[in-house]
Amino acid sequence: MALSALFLLVFLLQHFTINLTSVFPDEGKTFNSLSHFMGTNPVVQFALQPVLILGVLFHFIMGFILEAKNKGARPVKYAKTSGGDNSTWMSRNMIWSGLVILAFLVLHFVDFFFPEINAKYIASDADLSNDRYYDHVVHSFASPIRVGLYVVSFILLAMHLLHGFQSAFQSLGARHPKYTPLIKTLGKAYAILIPLGFIFIALFHHFNQ
Ligand code: HEM
Repeated sequence: MALSALFLLVFLLQHFTINLTSVFPDEGKTFNSLSHFMGTNPVVQFALQPVLILGVLFHFIMGFILEAKNKGARPVKYAKTSGGDNSTWMSRNMIWSGLVILAFLVLHFVDFFFPEINAKYIASDADLSNDRYYDHVVHSFASPIRVGLYVVSFILLAMHLLHGFQSAFQSLGARHPKYTPLIKTLGKAYAILIPLGFIFIALFHHFNQ
């Protein structure tokens, strides 16, 4: 679970870095050329992308299994629990923030991933111009409903990461009086700044139609 989480954290950082170039004042030139590279490079397409999809699936399936095991470990409920005494709300609700992210990914794949797969490998009359990526992103964020759904998902993503980042290191046994505070600070910065950056990108394109 922790290893797949770390892998997804690296993916999210690269995804964010590439998406951020879509707000550069060059009408999508940098974003289009990076997207074209990612979308056509055989190593990315046929090695990294399948590993990513498997990593996403593995993380979700393991999440459900862990949740079921946790519940099953105590079939008789406590009469009273005060989870807040020694754990955060985020850590107790990872399954719910995870489910929102899963729902977001379904929407996100319908928005971007499936149309791209369709254009590249299935449809014979699809637009395969090298500047289609930027146009597609800008067009997608015209809808206030979609932008709203994206923003809510990014807030839940921040909550998931606020616990998940440091928890992944803890699960791997990386706990040290000197380094753990640093990991926790880094985790908080990542968990807030990356989703905030994604919110900025969505709002930027919405208001710059
Ligand atoms: C403003 C925010 C975002 C934008 C504009 C955006 C844009 C895109 C685009 C254009 C693609 C299609 C790439 C292609 O196949 O050519 C894509 C794929 C994908 N996105 Fe996002 N994304 C955003 C946020 C996120 C977030 C927060 C996550 C994860 C929680 C995410 C996960 C993915 C995944 C897993 C794929 C499929 C990967 C692949 O294409 O290989 N995205 N995104």
